[in-house]
Amino acid sequence: MRKKIVAGNWKMNKTYQESKVLVKELKKGIKNIKLDNTRVIIAPPFTNLQNASKKTKDSSVEIAAQNMCAKESGAFTGEISASMIKSIHVDLVVLGHSERREYFGETDASLAAKVDTALKNDLEIIFCFGEVLEDRKSGNHFKIVEEQIKKALFHLNSDDWKNIILAYEPVWAIGTGETASPEQAQEMHAFIRELVAQRYISDVAEEVSILYGGSVKPANAEEIFSKPDVDGGLIGGAALKSEDFLALVKAI
Ligand code: PGA
Repeated sequence: MRKKIVAGNWKMNKTYQESKVLVKELKKGIKNIKLDNTRVIIAPPFTNLQNASKKTKDSSVEIAAQNMCAKESGAFTGEISASMIKSIHVDLVVLGHSERREYFGETDASLAAKVDTALKNDLEIIFCFGEVLEDRKSGNHFKIVEEQIKKALFHLNSDDWKNIILAYEPVWAIGTGETASPEQAQEMHAFIRELVAQRYISDVAEEVSILYGGSVKPANAEEIFSKPDVDGGLIGGAALKSEDFLALVKAI
């Protein structure tokens, strides 16, 4: 049975000291929640990745990096490699977030290269994609999402998909307070699952967790999470406060 997942993307928030406090609160709070077939993941900034990894070693909170270089090592100032991430016992990485695409020029092709490097280094991937508002308005959203997934992921083999988590994040809903309706999320998630089923065997499609991201908060989570093809959420703003994030874990 595919896993349910609540993942928190902290983005460029929390100093080292602040993130230590949040990790501590989450670790404590999670102990009181019964996790039924559910994974809880947080993606702090690089400056707190090692501390978070150490501090959560004996807890059910898993740690992800927010980005990674496609190159293995070398003269790439400011970049972080897959093996560096693995060396601090972090086994997950977020790739393809719309902010990386929009502000840092990441493309489907550059993401395909990052995906390959991550898998080669045994990193599990939370792969994000989603349409902008104009695409939604013009009815192009299915086509855009199909292309993003095909170009970055459809060269993989079925086995590789054991290390892929999908995150559908309509750009117009990220950090805007506007959420896709539970029906819009379900419709897109079912479309994505069908796309994967057509390319691979249906087992791959049935097993892959598909998260929804975009202004998920305690007030709207339960309804979104209740949809059959929504296997959890990738959370931005509401992941920065332990009580909100823990409420989302309880909602799943
Ligand atoms: P948000 O961000 O929850 O603040 O909308 C979601 C994301 O970007 O992953």
